[in-house]
Amino acid sequence: METSQVVYSLAEEQDYQQVLNICNSSDFGGLDYMPVFFPRWIKEPGRLVFLARVGGRVVALESVLQVDGGQTVVVQGLRVVPDLRGRGIAGAIQRHVVAYVRQHYPEVRVVRLTRGEAPTPETLIKYRVIAKEAIFSLCCEAVHLGAFVAELRSRLALEGGSSSSNDGPLTLSQQQAEALVLTQHVVSNLLPGQTIMNDWEPLKPLEANLEVLRRRGLTWIVDRENQPAALSLGTPPYAAPYRHDALRVNINIFGRRLASVCAVFLAQLEALLPSLSGYLVFYVYVDPEVWSGLRRFCENDANVSFFKDYWEDCVLEMDI
Ligand SMILES: CC(C)(COP(=O)(O)OP(=O)(O)OC[C@H]1O[C@@H](n2cnc3c(N)ncnc32)[C@H](O)[C@@H]1OP(=O)(O)O)[C@@H](O)C(=O)NCCC(=O)NCCS
Repeated sequence: METSQVVYSLAEEQDYQQVLNICNSSDFGGLDYMPVFFPRWIKEPGRLVFLARVGGRVVALESVLQVDGGQTVVVQGLRVVPDLRGRGIAGAIQRHVVAYVRQHYPEVRVVRLTRGEAPTPETLIKYRVIAKEAIFSLCCEAVHLGAFVAELRSRLALEGGSSSSNDGPLTLSQQQAEALVLTQHVVSNLLPGQTIMNDWEPLKPLEANLEVLRRRGLTWIVDRENQPAALSLGTPPYAAPYRHDALRVNINIFGRRLASVCAVFLAQLEALLPSLSGYLVFYVYVDPEVWSGLRRFCENDANVSFFKDYWEDCVLEMDI
């Protein structure tokens, strides 16, 4: 098969079944978001979803979301059908997408994306590294989460992790969150590479991106109201192929003070607790410096297991 045989188009709702066929149940450890996200992506303003076909069959997908007031596209969702991997299709669809953006959106200057593996020297020729996040992951039956939360709560109290001024973690209103995330304190001291990571979606802290964040239905929790040392975003849980009743829960935590990171993590779990059922997999995105401390904090007798060992997401940018 030659990549010259590949035909590109923009995806439509009725392509859903064919899109499912390019997702392998073992990709991303059984936690692929595509079955849930494709129907949302098709309707999202500012987003294009590209498909590649060979002989009418969908063989690859990639999506771009215009952000930063139009100057940047965030590239997401690259998938190639399992039986045609390793034949240059990923490279071909990526080149098509960049050429399309250049032609139709000349105001776009930057392509940004997140990758779950360390950049190779070839990658570093094309891209610059903007930020890194370490992923801490846990899994359990939802029925065990209550005991886990209780265990962490008493540990945090013993270790004196709750704020000394007694104002504890705080859930922010949308308005408070939007004001806070653009402050100099948060941007300079907490955000990795001055980038808001919402799940694995990297956005600059700009007024123009608040609309994108609003769409995501996030739960914003800080360790304290003034000059917080940790700011967290909880993404609404979504179904994952891992098991028929599996939910994936993503929590991003910005900040390097371990006790504050642990406190907001626990507060996110407490906020989720009443709504969760089935089998749960938590991905917690943190600064690499606090990963091992958070892991120690989460050692437990409540049947909550560590899902995967340490790995990092890397945010990359290239000018176009
Ligand atoms: C990763 C994957 C897309 C590679 O597809 P492929 O068709 O086998 O890749 P190719 O034969 O085109 O060879 C590698 C090309 O893909 C690019 N590539 C490889 N891994 C990549 C990744 N994780 N993200 C983006 N691009 C990647 C390489 O840069 C290279 O591009 P180039 O030709 O411009 O140098 C494919 O294995 C797949 O769908 N995996 C499961 C889903 C996944 O991991 N997606 C990536 C993260 S969203």
